[in-house]
Amino acid sequence: LRHLLTTEGLGRALTTEILDTAESFVPVTRNDVKKVPLLRGRTVVNLFFEASTRTRSAFELAAHRLSADVLNIEGRSSSTTKGETLLDTLKTLESMHVDMFVIRHGESGAAEFFARHAAPGVAILNGGDGRHAHPTQGLLDVFTIRRHKPDVAGLSVAIVGDVLHSRVARSDIHALQALGTQDIRVVGPKTLVPPELDALGVSVHHDLRSGLADADVVMLLRLQRERMSGHYLPAGSAFHRGFGLNEHTLGYAKPDALLMHPGPINRGVEIAAPVAYGKQSVILEQVSHGVAIRMAVMAMIIGAHQS
Ligand code: CP
Repeated sequence: LRHLLTTEGLGRALTTEILDTAESFVPVTRNDVKKVPLLRGRTVVNLFFEASTRTRSAFELAAHRLSADVLNIEGRSSSTTKGETLLDTLKTLESMHVDMFVIRHGESGAAEFFARHAAPGVAILNGGDGRHAHPTQGLLDVFTIRRHKPDVAGLSVAIVGDVLHSRVARSDIHALQALGTQDIRVVGPKTLVPPELDALGVSVHHDLRSGLADADVVMLLRLQRERMSGHYLPAGSAFHRGFGLNEHTLGYAKPDALLMHPGPINRGVEIAAPVAYGKQSVILEQVSHGVAIRMAVMAMIIGAHQS
């Protein structure tokens, strides 16, 4: 693993290796947070051009727990606002002997651009690019699923909401497929779940009840208004009436179905507050596992660059 740009094409062996490595980084108790020297003397730059709470914090914590030095740069306070290009930003920071960049950007392909231009030995991790990919989110999602339901290949997984604009949906689908999952459904209104999404190897549903029928996992997505052009903008209340998850509609899935959401959640839109933190919800576990997954990915990348 030299860079991590997408879960597409990672394959079963590498996906499983990442998940297995992450297991060793999950604290058993709150007092069991390990700090290991795997990245001592290394520098990680978090370069975020879009807002983030979970991804940026988890990458920062992961880097600290691996003993790296960490630099956090927000796009809106970087010299890109003075006309510096992304390429010049990369080269400028590289010259300070940086080993790894985590980049989040609104343009699909930004992480690949960085990877194409990075100096030998510098690793690029995609923290989310446009609607293209969010690979560590996909990995932490399948990691969370596997911890609860180890036979990932045999599960029925429903991804509900704004799939069209979602990099998380794409990364989840590719990660699940790497582990052999066949029954993946995308569920939502035609404007946000167009029929051509079946090209991803999933089934497309425009009715919540049939989309959730006997599902083992229900993954919700928020409406990504920042990526919508005007005519797509659905009212939150109308969306909730058709496709929102609440105590009643969650009952369409299996009684022990996992309720997941990559966050941030929009209460009363795609999810009702009582189920967001109800007994089937693993949303906060996803957040917690995000640190272990990012530790695993960074450790494996540094290992690969040393070999
Ligand atoms: N899931 C996710 O990417 O959340 P943030 O935008 O808060 O990082």
